[in-house]
Amino acid sequence: MCGIVGYIGQQPAAPIILAGLQKLEYRGYDSAGICTIDGGFADVRRSKGKLQNLVQLLEDSPLQGSVAIGHTRWATHGKPTEVNAHPHQAGPVVLVHNGIIENYLGLKMELRDQKHNFKSETDTEVIAHLIEHKMIGGSGFVDAVRTSLQELEGAYAVCLVSETEPGMMIAAKHGSPLVIGLGDQEFFVASDIPPILNHTREMVFLEDDQMVVFKDGFAHFSTLAGGPLTITPRHIDWSPLMAEKGGYRHFMLKEIFEQPRAVQDTLAGRLLEDEWDVCLDNIGLSDAKLAQVRRVCIVACGTSWHSGLVGKFLLEEHCRLPVEVDIASEFRYRNPVVGPETLLIAISQSGETADTLAAVREAKLRGALAIAVCNVIDSSIARETDGVVYTHAGPEIGVASTKAFVTQLVALYLFMLRLGRAGGSITPERMMPHFTSLLHLPALMEQALLLDNAVEAIARHYQHAGDFLFLGRGINYPIALEGALKLKEISYIHAEGYPAGEMKHGPIALIDENLPVVVIALRDRHYEKVVSNMEEVIARGGRVIAFCTEGDDEVRNRAETVLYLPECSEWIAPVLLSIPMQLLAYHVSVLKGNDVDQPRNLAKSVTVE
Ligand code: M6R
Repeated sequence: MCGIVGYIGQQPAAPIILAGLQKLEYRGYDSAGICTIDGGFADVRRSKGKLQNLVQLLEDSPLQGSVAIGHTRWATHGKPTEVNAHPHQAGPVVLVHNGIIENYLGLKMELRDQKHNFKSETDTEVIAHLIEHKMIGGSGFVDAVRTSLQELEGAYAVCLVSETEPGMMIAAKHGSPLVIGLGDQEFFVASDIPPILNHTREMVFLEDDQMVVFKDGFAHFSTLAGGPLTITPRHIDWSPLMAEKGGYRHFMLKEIFEQPRAVQDTLAGRLLEDEWDVCLDNIGLSDAKLAQVRRVCIVACGTSWHSGLVGKFLLEEHCRLPVEVDIASEFRYRNPVVGPETLLIAISQSGETADTLAAVREAKLRGALAIAVCNVIDSSIARETDGVVYTHAGPEIGVASTKAFVTQLVALYLFMLRLGRAGGSITPERMMPHFTSLLHLPALMEQALLLDNAVEAIARHYQHAGDFLFLGRGINYPIALEGALKLKEISYIHAEGYPAGEMKHGPIALIDENLPVVVIALRDRHYEKVVSNMEEVIARGGRVIAFCTEGDDEVRNRAETVLYLPECSEWIAPVLLSIPMQLLAYHVSVLKGNDVDQPRNLAKSVTVE
């Protein structure tokens, strides 16, 4: 949670920091702050609320200097107030922090005994005082940072400056992400790639317990303990435009509309027609290893968990392996039965979700093989697993996940084919229909996007409902869950997703003439059953919005509203259905005047428990 940015070079630093923070607002937006070092003095400005408030503050009273650190916050310790906003200062030391310091209370008590006065309720301020304390005791800035960080328990990514070393900036991390941008005698620090993209494509993804000291146009990388370090910069070829709105009103809408392109990128170079196989470059597991897998355990959170549920249908049907899908925060605390015969699949857009990362560590400790389905390259989860299937969705800025979700579905489909081929459950002869479906998918998605106006009309019609129910069966049941989650997240309307067949065991009591019920009723193996479930809703006065297959008059004659989707194979239907689900949530949110890209209380990457 939270986003941090740092700059040191020859340019005016404040505009670089503000532009960077804007690109990180998806990580938290309840307060923001900046500190520049100018003429040997630290100048700190902070404001409650969105970044715009800080921008206003700086317009009224600009900051000078070519060394600066900045922060956008998602509150964990202490309310979202100005005093709790970062940067935090103790004496000459100023820092921004992303993460949680678990032993902060003990440290705070000790420092209080040493006459340190705390101004905020945050865990972060403890770090500043701890460093100041060591400097009072005679340590230089760099040594004080090194030794202080080694006393911390929990997670941190920090960027620090000090009035005692006005031409220096330090960054370090343990457990929270940190990217270093290498320019020409100038350096950038950020929690994620987008703030750096406009300045340089050469980046270093700092590993845990690594530190970098920037001074005199050089970056000195070392371990936290002071040991030498060889770093390998990576060239990131995302274009800055990929991280901008591209003319759309909201990032979420842009990301919905770029899904056909994103799926093309997920597929690019991976379908090997000559061999009827799938090439997953970073998978890291040989055919022999994959063939030894006896069960699969999928862990993820939120939307990524929903893609895991779809993955279960794919893997069980085609690989004939038992698959469990767990919410990562449950998995890690329930003594799970996993061992060397288990393949753990961790799904995460950001690759930084704390619970999913902890689940990976837990499974690895128990001897499981682990792979990740991730969007962010070199993220923590990607690094800690034995192999990765990158989704290649490009940067996803909208807090509500859209293109990351559908590319996860496609990546899981590809992995299912690879596992099936390695394990022998899918013969070359059976690959062709899968290839055909996947290759046609982007075009079908373009068709689904043409439903935008029709979905907007539906949103207008039902926008005032207080609750929504989403029903689906089989592989489309997770899409009912995802449709409900999207609506909750950005429209703040209470919504529930349910397996259609389970409705009569309880939720049917909710049905009345005020409840819109979105029913997924495609012509697939569950069609007859779903139509019966729909009848049960209609008989009780429920208002059915049916998502059905083109030309289905039977459903049209019964439902209050229908939306037609192009005919497709049942294995890619979840991808197509996701599009109108996302658009429905989007349009309701816009009609309600909500902040679509930054819904209340949420943050894009949940890097805390
Ligand atoms: O980065 P991750 O995929 O691990 O994130 C998991 C969830 O936090 C995320 O999917 C969340 O549910 C989104 N807000 C959904 O739109």
